[in-house]
Amino acid sequence: VDSLDGQTALVTGGGGGIGTVVSRYFARVGATVVVADISRSAALKVAESLTADDLKARSLELDVTSLDDVMGAVENLVSVGLMPDILLTAHGFPQDARLVDMTAQNCSAVIDVCLSGTYNCIKAVAPHMIARQYGRIVTISSRAWHGNPGQANYSAAKAGVVGLTRSVAKELGRYGVTANTIAPGLINTPALRQLSTFDSISERAIRASSVKRLGEPEDVAEVALFLCGRGAGFVTGEVVHVSGGRFG
Ligand SMILES: NC(=O)c1ccc[n+]([C@@H]2O[C@H](COP(=O)([O-])OP(=O)(O)OC[C@H]3O[C@@H](n4cnc5c(N)ncnc54)[C@H](O)[C@@H]3O)[C@@H](O)[C@H]2O)c1
Repeated sequence: VDSLDGQTALVTGGGGGIGTVVSRYFARVGATVVVADISRSAALKVAESLTADDLKARSLELDVTSLDDVMGAVENLVSVGLMPDILLTAHGFPQDARLVDMTAQNCSAVIDVCLSGTYNCIKAVAPHMIARQYGRIVTISSRAWHGNPGQANYSAAKAGVVGLTRSVAKELGRYGVTANTIAPGLINTPALRQLSTFDSISERAIRASSVKRLGEPEDVAEVALFLCGRGAGFVTGEVVHVSGGRFG
């Protein structure tokens, strides 16, 4: 594993199930992690748990749906010497409903956070990465990008994240900036375990997977760490499924 010593990683949704573990993976190999989340308390809790272990981290309250807020936050980080070398976007949520029952609010909320929020984060860091001629961008999409019943909004947003990431890869490769997306299958997070449907969703996911277990946040973090290392500089525009062989 490459050292991330001296690098800054901005992890959005850093207070969430996947973001928490990814933040720890990055910090453990030397990065200063900016744990950003719309939930101030969640971001703070993660950053404090890292600093308590002598790892480098700070928290940032951030709503990724506001381009102005994201741009402002990145400018502030740059001004204190924390220009993100790494952006990992682990914010977002589904709001499932069959298409006939889906409301306009269901649809726009998910597209705003999952797709526009990811766009805003990339837009804010890209000029700085270009200026530095180095950067690693990893977005989190979902295996649902292939299309999933009950998730027209989420699938559309995550397919958008795939297209966004691949376009960014094509535009920024010449500047030493890579962009890849991780498409997880069902990942065993605290938020997921709280769902009343957890047992049935898990059973269905395991049945449809080749590897007969749920994914863990660590499965995602391992891939994120590779993609964000210096050694992955010739890997860009990839959609890496971390789904135990479950596609579509
Ligand atoms: N858990 C899974 O099974 C799974 C599968 C595929 C994809 N994903 C994707 O992985 C990412 C992380 O999911 P997770 O399972 O860790 O979920 P999670 O709910 O545990 O974490 C998501 C985090 O995003 C934050 N967030 C929500 N809206 C935000 C906003 N506007 N600005 C900033 N932060 C915001 C939340 O506060 C939360 O801390 C999401 O994009 C999700 O769609 C998850």
